[in-house]
Parts: sequence; structure tokens; C-alpha cells
Amino acid sequence: MEGAIPSPPNTRIAVVTGGNKGIGLEVCRLLASGGVTVVLTARDETRGLAAVEKLRGQGISGVVFHQLEITDASSIAGLADFLKTRFGKLDILVNNAAIGGVEYVQELDTNEEKFSGLDVYQRLEWMVKSVNETFDSAKEGVQTNYYGTKHVIEALLPLLQSSSEGKIVNVSSDYGLLTFIKNEGVRQELNDIEKLTEQRLDELLDKFLTDFEAGALEAHGWPNGFAAYKMAKATMNAYSRILARRHPELRVNCAHPGYVKTDMTMSSGVLTPEEGARNIVKVALLPDGGPTGVYFAKGKEASFM
Ligand SMILES: NC(=O)c1ccc[n+]([C@@H]2O[C@H](COP(=O)([O-])OP(=O)(O)OC[C@H]3O[C@@H](n4cnc5c(N)ncnc54)[C@H](OP(=O)(O)O)[C@@H]3O)[C@@H](O)[C@H]2O)c1
Repeated sequence: MEGAIPSPPNTRIAVVTGGNKGIGLEVCRLLASGGVTVVLTARDETRGLAAVEKLRGQGISGVVFHQLEITDASSIAGLADFLKTRFGKLDILVNNAAIGGVEYVQELDTNEEKFSGLDVYQRLEWMVKSVNETFDSAKEGVQTNYYGTKHVIEALLPLLQSSSEGKIVNVSSDYGLLTFIKNEGVRQELNDIEKLTEQRLDELLDKFLTDFEAGALEAHGWPNGFAAYKMAKATMNAYSRILARRHPELRVNCAHPGYVKTDMTMSSGVLTPEEGARNIVKVALLPDGGPTGVYFAKGKEASFM
């Protein structure tokens, strides 16, 4: 179901995936506050419509809902059809939807008091101890965070090319930095963007999952602690760089929001969702002709390593 909002001819159109809560919801709020028409997407229609209503109640108009489950090809096609018919183009795609790729062993508890006095490293350590990494959760993490995002991009590419300068912001993470991959060969391959191919990224993810199932992550130098999340974000970064080279007419960048208090981090982060979202929106609203194929950490250009 979609809401009806008028959009003047020169308005920029943005799609935000996973817009119903956390950083995604704040990205929608900030973009819409800046005059961008926002398609807030969510996999669950009830949660998505509630988010749009929440924004409306806070005086934010210019946000329309559309359902999107990023692992479902027909859902992605439905969004692409809607955008084509309604707007004929897409200016900004914020790929925000993601999962932890882990099983959370504790009930979600948003009481932050237990983190007071803990520094960032102690909080991250608490997070790693609070999850189980099963093969099924790792597979789902890779399917959602890498392949789901990639399939959304592929489907919306023609619409981004109909914009004067289509911008893709892939919400990344410092967990996607190559430093977490101890296997020197894999690390170098992922950084050698001139030679790297999408097929090779598929092969590396298959090998990672095979080693995960065999209990051989450490032996082969794959990341540990949120291993699938780290691999999916590292390969998403590499794919973004491949895309940026292939499509100089677009701007394709990765942005790390910072360590944010959301459900994904069980509220253990140090930034508010709005602060995290500002770091994403800054990249989404870079002027035309700006950098492409770049990693931004908390709003500043940084290294993929
Ligand atoms: N929080 C941090 O400290 C942090 C740090 C670095 C990077 N990030 C990145 O920031 C982004 C947002 O994370 P967050 O912390 O705001 O997490 P969050 O509060 O858990 O929100 C995740 C969003 O993604 C949606 N989603 C998950 N799987 C989906 C699917 N298959 N199809 C469509 N939507 C799906 C969720 O929908 P449901 O509500 O339906 O589950 C939710 O809207 C992610 O890319 C994350 O990796 C976060």
C-alpha cells in the first residue's frame, strides 16, 4: 500500500531500505526534512506504515511507504515498477537494511544502564559474547547483507541512470574493513579492484561459508566475531568499488554510521540513531561531481583497509 503525496517535478527521489526503525528511519526523517521525497521501505507493511505515520505525526511530510523485502526478487521487482510508474527515476538509493548474521541469545532489552562506564571495546566485547554464530545465521547474513543489497542495486540501476547523477550509499560498517581478514591473499584480492570480479566475490563468499560449516574459519584466516557480517560488509564494499568504476555516471559510496544504539547492537552503541543517520545522509547529499568508490567513516573519507 502506498500513501499519496504530490512531488514537484524537480524534487529528488530517495529510496531507503529498512526504513522502519533504527538508523534507516532517521535517514528517512533527515532526507525528507531536507526536501527530498523519500520512499521509506520495510519488509513488513504494518511496521513500515507505522513508521510513516510516526514521521507524519512529527510534521514530516514527503515520505511514502513501499514494501521491500530485499531477499525477495518479486518484492524488489514490485518496488522497481512502482518507482518507474510514479517517478520515472531514482536520485538516491540508501541501502541500509541488514541483519547481524547471528542469533541473539538474550531478549531484546533497550535499558542502556548496563553499559554505563563501559568503553567502546568493552561494549563490543559484550556484544560478541551475547550472540551465537550458527551456520544458518551466517548464511542468512550473507544472503541478506550482500546478495539482497546487490539485487536491489541491480534492479534499480536503470532508474538511477535516469537521474542527472544517481547516488548509491551502501551503509557499511567498520566491521567490513579488510583488516579483519587475516588471510593475506583474500585481503589483497578484495583490495585489487582493477582485477576483482563479481564472480570472484561469489566464490570467496562460497568458500567462507564452506569453511564456516567445517569449523575452519580461523585456520583459513577468515574474520571471527560477527564473521558473516564482517565478510558480507567487506564484499559489499568491494562490489561498491567495482560498480563505481563501471558506472562513472553514478556516485557509489560506502558509509559507516558509527557505533549506534539500535536493535542490531542491542542498544550497546555510543551514538543515537539520529547521529548515525547524519553520517549516512552527509554522503547521500554530497554535491554532484563528488567522490565515488569511496568509504566514509562517520562522515569522513577513510581507508577500506
Ligand atoms: N548500529 C550500529 O552500530 C551499526 C554500525 C555499523 C553499521 N550499521 C549498519 O547500519 C544499518 C542499519 O542498522 P541498524 O543498526 O539501524 O539496525 P536495525 O535497527 O536492526 O534495523 C535494521 C533494518 O533493516 C531491516 N531489514 C533486515 N532484514 C531485511 C530484509 N531482508 N529486507 C528488508 N529489510 C530488512 C529491518 O527490518 P525489520 O524491522 O523488519 O527487522 C530494519 O528496518 C545496517 O546496514 C547496519 O549494518 C549499524
